[in-house]
Amino acid sequence: MKTSVRERLLAPSVLSADFASLGEAVARVAPYSGLLHVDVMDGHFVPNITLGPVVVAGLKRATKLPLDCHLMIEAPDRYLADFAKAGATCLSVHQEACPHLHRTIQRIREEGMRPGVALNPATPIETLEEILECLDFVLIMSVNPGFGGQKFIPSSLDKVKRLRAMIEAGGWNASIEVDGGVNEKTIPSLLKAGADWFVAGSAIFGAPDPAAEARRFEEMLHG
Ligand code: DX5
Ligand code: ZN
Repeated sequence: MKTSVRERLLAPSVLSADFASLGEAVARVAPYSGLLHVDVMDGHFVPNITLGPVVVAGLKRATKLPLDCHLMIEAPDRYLADFAKAGATCLSVHQEACPHLHRTIQRIREEGMRPGVALNPATPIETLEEILECLDFVLIMSVNPGFGGQKFIPSSLDKVKRLRAMIEAGGWNASIEVDGGVNEKTIPSLLKAGADWFVAGSAIFGAPDPAAEARRFEEMLHG
């Protein structure tokens, strides 16, 4: 896959939205979004527990946005089919959670989803060298996974830059997604570093007017 054009997309993360009215929260930001980021946590791979395929299926009914499911769970292979059935469009698994990453990625594609691999801040991009050609995207964690509202880790910028260079050098097609501490301050340098997809949770849903904030971010990506 070396043909598709790189797209800059805003991906609001529902983790910071009001779960009592999730459908409405999503509808407000949808006009300015390219993806909806959905954080799945199991209390083992990360210390927090969030949601599973049932909520993903609910979101699928609530919005037309492609659902970008980020699995922060151990042994994700057990649930790939469930997320496909629930309506996930993009599915990322953590490199640190997958001993047979190549097989896992093939299975995600066979299930009809776009495969991605997420990297914790301490995991080098070189661990993806052999799998990059099979990926639709790489998710660079710019905070330690588990919670919204954390501070952006500055060295993530250089990581994005080096990953961009690695993708270009190989002629691959993977998009670069950044997740954690993405806001008006970090977006400009992330754009320069070569990021494509921008996940933002607390910066959007924690703002007094989430729609206005999403719009502002969307303008920064395309302005
Ligand atoms: C954290 C999650 C993120 C989270 C980002 O483990 O993967 O998607 O929602 O939240 P903010 O944008 O608040 O850093
Ligand atoms: Zn995430």
